[in-house]
Amino acid sequence: MVPSLRTKLGALAALLHFSNIYVASGQFCSCSSLVVPVHVDVLIPKDPADPFGGLKSNASSLRRLDETYDVFGVFCQPNTAVSSEKAEVIQLLVHGFTYTSQYWSPPTEEFRNYSYTEFACDRGLSSLAIDLVGVGLSSRPGNASDVQFATNAAVVSQLARHLKIASIIAGVQPFRKVIGIGHSAGSATLTFSATAEGAHSPFDGFILTGNLNVQPGTLPSLPGIMSARDDTPLRWGGLDPNYITTNNRSLFYPANSNSFSPRMIIFDAFTKDVGPLSAQLQGSVTSLPAHYPGPVAKVVGSEDQGFCAGGNCVDVVALNAAERLLWPDARSFDVVVSQGSGHDLNLDFFAMAPFNTYVDFVEQFAAL
Ligand SMILES: *[C@@H]1O[C@H](CO)[C@@H](O)[C@H](O)[C@H]1NC(C)=O
Ligand SMILES: *[C@@H]1O[C@H](CO)[C@@H](O)[C@H](O)[C@H]1NC(C)=O
Ligand SMILES: *[C@@H]1O[C@H](CO)[C@@H](O)[C@H](O)[C@H]1NC(C)=O
Ligand SMILES: *[C@@H]1O[C@H](CO)[C@@H](O)[C@H](O)[C@H]1NC(C)=O
Repeated sequence: MVPSLRTKLGALAALLHFSNIYVASGQFCSCSSLVVPVHVDVLIPKDPADPFGGLKSNASSLRRLDETYDVFGVFCQPNTAVSSEKAEVIQLLVHGFTYTSQYWSPPTEEFRNYSYTEFACDRGLSSLAIDLVGVGLSSRPGNASDVQFATNAAVVSQLARHLKIASIIAGVQPFRKVIGIGHSAGSATLTFSATAEGAHSPFDGFILTGNLNVQPGTLPSLPGIMSARDDTPLRWGGLDPNYITTNNRSLFYPANSNSFSPRMIIFDAFTKDVGPLSAQLQGSVTSLPAHYPGPVAKVVGSEDQGFCAGGNCVDVVALNAAERLLWPDARSFDVVVSQGSGHDLNLDFFAMAPFNTYVDFVEQFAAL
């Protein structure tokens, strides 16, 4: 162990992370980083390998988790006056596995075009991009088995409630509507919250990106999964081995290397984070019907090497019908297959199209 070097690397990671707030604060947007204490009191599976994450469990296979976590987030709001309808809405942005809040706004000038938070601000929409519990600058429980879909689903629901009753920062009123936008495992987290809470969900709509329930046979498994402490001992050497990461991020991009910047995938590898092993084991959490009454949209990239392999996303009408079965009470349900995009819809050359799609849905849901 080399604690001083580890501390320095940790500080560097924090610096990379925090620089988000300078980059995202542009012509259209004012952003602040903040930490919200979030209390969860939730039943989670004793066995983190439970494929349904506890949604189908009886009481004897669950345990109670009663904790308060510090949740890090970057809150962005437009600088210019916006309609009252837009001012009353906030997007809660939830990243995927081994990403952080930075997925929604890569913190370097070169990648400004890939900032969804800035894109949305320019169109009058506020956002809060969070680091999930266990990840980035949010609390990281010493025991990775505390971090399951049930845990973070409770976190996002509690945060959504908080945004509706409390001021997130001085001078900002509580919001009337909260729309959850997830990517990949972040979409699974939001889906879990909708399944667990149904009509009691605090969310006024979901936009679930990079995640399908209808899968092409078996999903190709992510290459290079390993314990984070073995992957990067200097930074993560002290972690529970059940915090894991990937050392190969190629599956997150289109197979065609002309579709993305070679610098983006390097930057992505450099700023990657960890996730709990349970995120890989609880693969059936999105396969149960969610009795959620609000509007729901799914957006996937046609070149997603996981979910759209084997022609899974070619027949959009059939895909829509199959996905809709799990959202029987949804007020509206749409599937959009974004042509050219990979799994990380926000990070390749096609990002503008999905960004427009997300904003269109937010505006549609805000008007309901
Ligand atoms: C509870 O679930 C466990 C695991 O699925 C099972 O072994 C056990 O029999 C169940 N107990 C009851 C009372 O249903
Ligand atoms: C960024 O987007 C603008 C238009 O939105 C475009 O003119 C410019 O070329 C883009 N820059 C890069 C580096 O892709
Ligand atoms: C983590 O917590 C679980 C559940 O309380 C427990 O069974 C397990 O032994 C703990 N692991 C470690 C390394 O403390
Ligand atoms: C990353 O994984 C892909 C398979 O998804 C493989 O083709 C590629 O060679 C791997 N890259 C490295 C550097 O190991």
